[in-house]
Amino acid sequence: MSTRKPLIAANWKMYKTPAQSKEFVAAFLPLVHGHTRDEIVLCPPFVDIVAVVATTHGSKIHVGGQNMHWQEEGAFTGEISAGMLAAAGCTHVILGHSERRQLFGETDDTVNQKLHNALKHKLVPIVCVGELLAERGAGKTEEVLLRQVARALVNVAPDLARHIVIAYEPVWAIGTGKTATPEMAAEAHLIIRSQVARSLGREIADNMRILYGGSVKPENATTLLNQPEIDGALVGGASLDAQSFAKIVQYTLF
Ligand code: 13P
Repeated sequence: MSTRKPLIAANWKMYKTPAQSKEFVAAFLPLVHGHTRDEIVLCPPFVDIVAVVATTHGSKIHVGGQNMHWQEEGAFTGEISAGMLAAAGCTHVILGHSERRQLFGETDDTVNQKLHNALKHKLVPIVCVGELLAERGAGKTEEVLLRQVARALVNVAPDLARHIVIAYEPVWAIGTGKTATPEMAAEAHLIIRSQVARSLGREIADNMRILYGGSVKPENATTLLNQPEIDGALVGGASLDAQSFAKIVQYTLF
């Protein structure tokens, strides 16, 4: 039995105003009241963070950013720093989401720089990795995952690495309704964990949580989350509705 506490995170992407985020929290909190089995994290757009931190105050719900810059501060119009996220009440941050990599030019290198700064500010980084459909088709899944994980972890000190979370999000499964089969996800997670062991040592690898993301819904959460290699979920579309996200959080453990 794994001692890794499952982590279920909502990635709201570019959805919800501050008022809508407050409505979500008001509906969601009673649904998960007393739920301690899993770590629950809401990652709203930046402008909603203050409202979500305020309305979840006193609960066990954590709040995370969806992105951050790797520098402390500076002339970087439109960016936000790890220190700002932490000061606003965030405890987690998503790094290297495939939408950031594909649409906003993020690279393995910038993910690594961001990871260093997130750790400096004691944020729990949720580092996203995953292959494109064409890469899977070309038999390159393993190569892509090994490269993304190895490069994200460059020069990370093992004693700081304990809080890192990795999310396996096959790009072809995001927002498409297609999910990796539990076997595919388990295989990818083993590949990821093997690279973490090479980069940071076996003990850290065994304790690192590896989440699955990509069309996780209430209907498939139980099957996915019962895979011993899957330590939680990063949920997009199905996290926008309080009932639906609460159902995912309450997956049945067999
Ligand atoms: P969907 O759950 O909408 O497929 O999105 C997954 C995702 O990208 C979470 O970060």
